[in-house]
Amino acid sequence: MKSSNDPTLEQGLAVVRTVADLRRTVAAFRKAGRTVGLVPTMGALHEGHISLVKGALERGDIPVTSIFVNPTQFGPNEDFAAYPRDEQGDFDKLRDAGCRIVFAPSKDEMYPGQQLTTVTVTGITDGLCGPLRPGHFQGVATVVSKLLLMAMPDRAFFGEKDYQQLQVIKRMVRDLSMPFEIVGMPTVREADGLAMSSRNRYMNPTERAVATGLYRELNAVAKAVRAGASCTAATAEASKALLAGGFDKIEYLTVVDAESLEPLEKVSGPARVIAAVRLGRTRLIDNIAA
Ligand code: PAJ
Repeated sequence: MKSSNDPTLEQGLAVVRTVADLRRTVAAFRKAGRTVGLVPTMGALHEGHISLVKGALERGDIPVTSIFVNPTQFGPNEDFAAYPRDEQGDFDKLRDAGCRIVFAPSKDEMYPGQQLTTVTVTGITDGLCGPLRPGHFQGVATVVSKLLLMAMPDRAFFGEKDYQQLQVIKRMVRDLSMPFEIVGMPTVREADGLAMSSRNRYMNPTERAVATGLYRELNAVAKAVRAGASCTAATAEASKALLAGGFDKIEYLTVVDAESLEPLEKVSGPARVIAAVRLGRTRLIDNIAA
């Protein structure tokens, strides 16, 4: 007998705050024969996040979105306190998109008591954002492991926008034999090519106009290296153009193997042009296939 508070009988979004409620709600959908797709987020949702919910729906999964601004993946001088939060707005967007469960736990629910266990992925975290954000990928791998074990989905959806993160999670799931499929989804962009990001709202109109140059230069590098140019030469030229165009700092702009993330000098197989740059107080990351 299905009870009247069985979420599978209703349309709409179930808001759950505890792991116990998440498991109960997911179990009700599973009992009704449904598969489950997890979309981990930190909220301040935009069309990039919503595309992941749609990815779950397209595969016939019940979408479960988590919203948790995870303190352990922010460095001491990063924007944890300033990170945008808009829970009601997020719930409305998720409901409109057809998401069925949102898991929005407190910090204590996520990290009850002292935590002595972390998940560390080595190697592919040695370069790119790894050394620039010490502890970041350990924080991400640990919280994503917890979210996967809390929701026990069939699949979890991540954006190619955070390309190194996607590779870290794929590798973690493979190395730890976790029984989840990790699905990478294409980057959703604004009309001028800027990758959508919760952090784009930090930019003033002048900076926002400069920001469009990043996607343009990534494309210039991809075109050059595909035509046989040296990666060092192509990225040096693009870095110069970005600085001339108003960016404040290039943290990295490089061409890497699409899976190992090792830097390349010539492109012969699957590769990514990948960058992190600074513009005022905003740090922008982006990447495209080379
Ligand atoms: P957040 O930055 O909120 O991103 C949540 C998911 O949305 C990530 O998989 C990210 O790659 C994806 N995403 C962001 N912008 C996108 C865009 N323009 N197009 C497509 N996908 C996009 O990434 C995190 O949160 C956290 O590190 C998290 C995985 C939730 C762990 O705390």
